[in-house]
Order: sequence, then C-alpha cells, then structure tokens
Amino acid sequence: MIPKTLIRLLKLLRPSERATLVALWGMVIASAILELAGMGLVFVYIRAVSTDGGGRAFELFVSVVGQSSYVGFALVMGVLVVGFYLGKNVLHIVTDSLLMRFVFGLYEKYSALMFDTYLGADYQEHLRRGTVELRRNLTAESAATFNEFFVAALRAASDALIIVTISVLLFVVSWPLTVGAIILFGSSTVLYTVFARRRGARLDQERREHVFGMSRWLSQSMSGFKEIRLLRRKAFFLGRFGAELKQHSRASRKARTLEQLPRAINETLLAAGVMGAVTYFVLAGGGLAAALPVLALFGVASMRTISALSRLMGCWHSLRVHAGSVHKTCDEFERFHGRGAHLSARYDSIKKDGRYSSPANPIADIEVKCVGFAYDPTIRNSDASAEDRRPALVDVSLRVPSKSFVGFVGSSGSGKSTLVNLITGLLTPTSGSICVGGRDIRDFLPEWQSSLGVVQQAPYMASETIKANVAIGIAEEEVDESRVWWALERARLAQFVRGLPAGLRTNMREEAAAFSGGERQRVAIARALYADPRVLIFDEATSALDNETEKEVLDSVLEFAGEKTILSVAHRLSTMQRCDTVFVLHEGRLLASGRFLELLETCEPFKRMVELGQIGSSGPSSLKR
Ligand SMILES: Nc1ncnc2c1ncn2[C@@H]1O[C@H](COP(=O)(O)OP(=O)(O)OP(=O)(O)O)[C@@H](O)[C@H]1O
Ligand SMILES: [Mg+2]
Repeated sequence: MIPKTLIRLLKLLRPSERATLVALWGMVIASAILELAGMGLVFVYIRAVSTDGGGRAFELFVSVVGQSSYVGFALVMGVLVVGFYLGKNVLHIVTDSLLMRFVFGLYEKYSALMFDTYLGADYQEHLRRGTVELRRNLTAESAATFNEFFVAALRAASDALIIVTISVLLFVVSWPLTVGAIILFGSSTVLYTVFARRRGARLDQERREHVFGMSRWLSQSMSGFKEIRLLRRKAFFLGRFGAELKQHSRASRKARTLEQLPRAINETLLAAGVMGAVTYFVLAGGGLAAALPVLALFGVASMRTISALSRLMGCWHSLRVHAGSVHKTCDEFERFHGRGAHLSARYDSIKKDGRYSSPANPIADIEVKCVGFAYDPTIRNSDASAEDRRPALVDVSLRVPSKSFVGFVGSSGSGKSTLVNLITGLLTPTSGSICVGGRDIRDFLPEWQSSLGVVQQAPYMASETIKANVAIGIAEEEVDESRVWWALERARLAQFVRGLPAGLRTNMREEAAAFSGGERQRVAIARALYADPRVLIFDEATSALDNETEKEVLDSVLEFAGEKTILSVAHRLSTMQRCDTVFVLHEGRLLASGRFLELLETCEPFKRMVELGQIGSSGPSSLKR
C-alpha cells in the first residue's frame, strides 16, 4: 500500500526532478557510508592509541611531526575523529535541508498551481465542488501529502538504510551498552532544549500565522470567484496567497531541519564523550583494556540506532496516517491536468491574467442566438443523473444594440441571472451561441470579460477596506484613489464614506454585515464603474436601495447611456420605464420584448406582472418616460 502510494506521488515529478531526487539520495547514501566509516574510525582510533606507541599510525605521526610525543599523537587523532564526525553531520544536515527544500518546493508548486486551477475553473465546476472542499484540498491535503507523507518516506528510507548498515557492523561485534547511551541521550536533550526550543517555538508560531494568512486569502479568493474572474485579478490573489505560502513553507522547512538537531548533537556528544574517556585512560597511563575499542564502537552505534529507530517509527506512523491524502491530491491533480502530467511542468505554465485594453475591443451589439442552457444537475445533488437535467433557458434569441439601455424582467427563477451569467461568459450555453460584433464571445473571452462591469445579485465583499473593495484585486499602491472617489460619487456613496471616521480605510466585514445591503450594493456598483467598462451589467444591483436612492443611482448610471451598453435585471418600474428595450422572460423562454409602454399594451403576462406589483412601483412616478 505505502510503496504504491509513494510511486503514485513520484509519478507527479518530471524525469529531471526524479534525477535530482536520485542525486539527493546519493548524498543520503554517502551520509550512511560516512556514518559507518565514523564508527570504524572510532574502532581504529582506540586500537591505535591503545597500542602504547607501537602502531603504524604513531610511526606516521612521528615522521610527519618530527616529535615522539605520545600525548600529542593521541590528541591529534582525537581531534581528527571528532572533526570527521562534525563534517559527517554537517553533510547530513545539508543533505536533509536540500531534501526538504525539494519536497517543500513541490508543496509550494502544487498548492499554487491548484489555487490557480480553482480560480480558473469552469464556473459550474466551481459551484459543484463548493469552497470547503477546495479549501481543504489546497491546505490540509496538500500539506499532508508533501510535508508529511513525502518527508516521512524520505526520512524513513534514510533511517532504514542507516539501521541496516549499523546492524551489519554490530553483527560482528555485538555487546549492549545502553546505560551510557541513555545518559548521553538525556544530556543532549537538555542541550537541545536550551539552544533550539525557543527557536522551534517561534517557527511553529510563524507557521501557524502563515497557515492562517493562507486560509484568509484562500477564503477571500474563493468567495470572490466571480468578481475575480470577471475583473481578471487572479494574479493579485495568487500573489498574496503565494507570499503567505512561501513564508509558511520556509518556517515549516526550517522547523523540520531543526527537528534533526537533537540527533546531530547526540552523536557529536557521544563521539566526543567516548574520545574524552579514552584519552583520559591513555593519559592516566594505565593502558587500555582490550575491550575498550569494542565498547566505544558499540556506544556510538547503539546511540545512532536508537535515534534512527525512534524516528523510523514516527515516520511509519506518519506514512500510514497520510497515505489517503496522497491519493486525494493525485486524484485532484489528474482530474484537472490529466494522467501523466507533471506537476512542475504545469506550474511553470501559470500565466498572469492581465486586463485587455479597450481599443482592441470595440463596443458592438450583443447577440444571443437560440441559446439553451441547463445546469449540471450534480451541482445540487452529487448522485443526480443526466436525466435530471432541467433547462433553465430554452431557445432564447435577442439582440442588445450597442450603447443601449436594456432591461430584463420576469418572475423569480425565470432565468434572468442565468442569461446574465451566459452573457458574461461565466456559463457556456448548452446550445446556441452568444456573439458580440459577430464573434462568439468564447473566442475572445478574456477581452470580452475585461470590457464588462458586472454587479451580481449578491455581490461579494472582501473583509478589506472600502478602497480595497472598490479596487478589488489591485495592489494598494496601484489604486487610483481619485478614481475610487469618482466611482463612489457615481454610486451615490461618496457622501456616506466621507462621513465615516476612517473614510476609505473603513473595513468592510466579509460575513458580518457591517454595512447595509444597499451600501454594499453601492460599493459593488462603484467597483464595476472603477475599471471604466464598456458594458455595464446589473443583476438586481439596486434591489436593496430605497426608491429615492435607487433613482439617484440610476440617474447617475444613466449618464453613461449612449456611451456604454447597459443591461439591467430589475423589478422596479422606474428602471424599466427608462429602458430602450425590455425583455420579458418566463420559465426560461423569451416571451416578448419592446419598450415599456408597448409591452404594457401588447404583452398580457407583463401587464399582469405590473398589476400584481412584481414589477414594483417607485412611488408617484407616472408610467411615462
Ligand atoms: N447553480 C444552479 N444549479 C442548478 N440550478 C440552478 C442554479 N442556479 C439557478 N438554478 C435554477 O435555474 C433557474 C433560473 O435561475 P435564475 O437564477 O436564472 O433565475 P432568476 O430569474 O435570476 O431569478 P431571481 O429573480 O429569483 O433572481 C431556476 O429554476 C433556478 O432554480
Ligand atoms: Mg436572479
């Protein structure tokens, strides 16, 4: 089960990345060999210094130094051995840090790539998945896959390698000396506590802060899906999320490296301890017992085995716990990027979604040609089948002349918002097409969406300042404040904002309604106006406003009449009266179209809607334009 899971994970890597991993593994094996060599060296050292000046090593020392000092010989040998251990452990730490860099790099790439994928996904797919699942995949599952499973797999393999090599050595000289090992283990733990715990705690704190930062940007981005897509501000959110991700990744990587420290300290200590003890015996002049080399070797070996074994057990536990996440992560990646796709190759292809300049995009008539649409039934019910598909729009054909002001009316559920979402390109028609200037919008969707200013039925507010909400997805230093004021003025909210103690810097809460529905709607209108769009689309954009304010906002927006194309879904009589054309939808079909007064005479259902108050009156205004 676990090897299979690991193979699946490794398949996400490019061949060149697998080669890097193999090279890193070469370093791990080199570390293990040095490990063994270090132990052999202890053995050799003790043999050399315990032969009372008779050994070949001493002769070599005398010929190099030119002095026959036995104490000097023992000291130099001791320093050499300790130095060797130090070097070996430095190599181990470097190897591990490179491995962590590699794995956390994959984690960064996967999360950033899937973030981009989710914000670039089809709108229906987004509806079907729900933000909670997407959030979990991006944070918990991907962290479990790379930072837990992959790390545990690499560590377990290197520990197993070390245990096997040491066991082979000990098989030759087997003799337990646990008490000494326990004492040294304890002292190193104290050392570790003194030097590394505070740093570890700080890293842990940092890690948690950045997890929070990531989830904050994540939830804001996912909740603002439509706005970000239409305003094409994906890159901004990816940037903010990526910054938190990088910091989180950095803190986690360092914490992991720090975890390696006790083992390194233990061993260096043990080596130094054994050297110290042996040197003492030599200096004491009593000579060394024949067993001493063996004991020292065993001390080092058992120490190493204990730490490797305990870590191996921890890794094994982690592998079992996180295997499920690996499969989820791989499934998710394959679902969007296909089987056999390599993670980094996809990551490298992430593109910025810059806005397209207006001149490339002349204002033209919008033609809805025989459009039919049915929502994916699995959005509401994951078990639904194709037969459960019910059309939300049937054979709708209409033309919105450029620079005109048109209205859409119809009872609730008649398909108005669906039609608007089709015109914006968030939804794709099941049949028929939507053309602008004779071109299907799907052929130039980025340009088309860049020319839209859309106010949704339930606009999204980020828990940021009013200024950041109006200029959503634009870096603070790039926001044109005078333009924000201009847009707020147009949305009839400037006076209100001026009256707030913090003005533009007043924070809007995402969930809790710190602002009234009408105020939020006007922020959304200002947001749509900020980018100076060619086409304005309002879906119940003023539904929460009182008649007086609605009239003011409408007057202000209609100053753009003849300059921009304006599409408005509304229930208000006052709005409909001012439209050049009103389209009447009923149960997903286009029932009639014409000027308000014409429809009142020719379209019976429309007349009834007006009479029943479904198209509400705005006070004493007459039925004339
Ligand atoms: N995500 C969805 N999944 C499935 N069906 C949907 C979805 N969104 C809307 N519908 C259905 O499509 C039909 C048209 O909905 P739409 O939102 O376009 O109506 P509307 O005219 O805008 O209504 P309202 O005036 O209440 O906003 C409705 O029957 C609605 O239940
Ligand atoms: Mg609607």
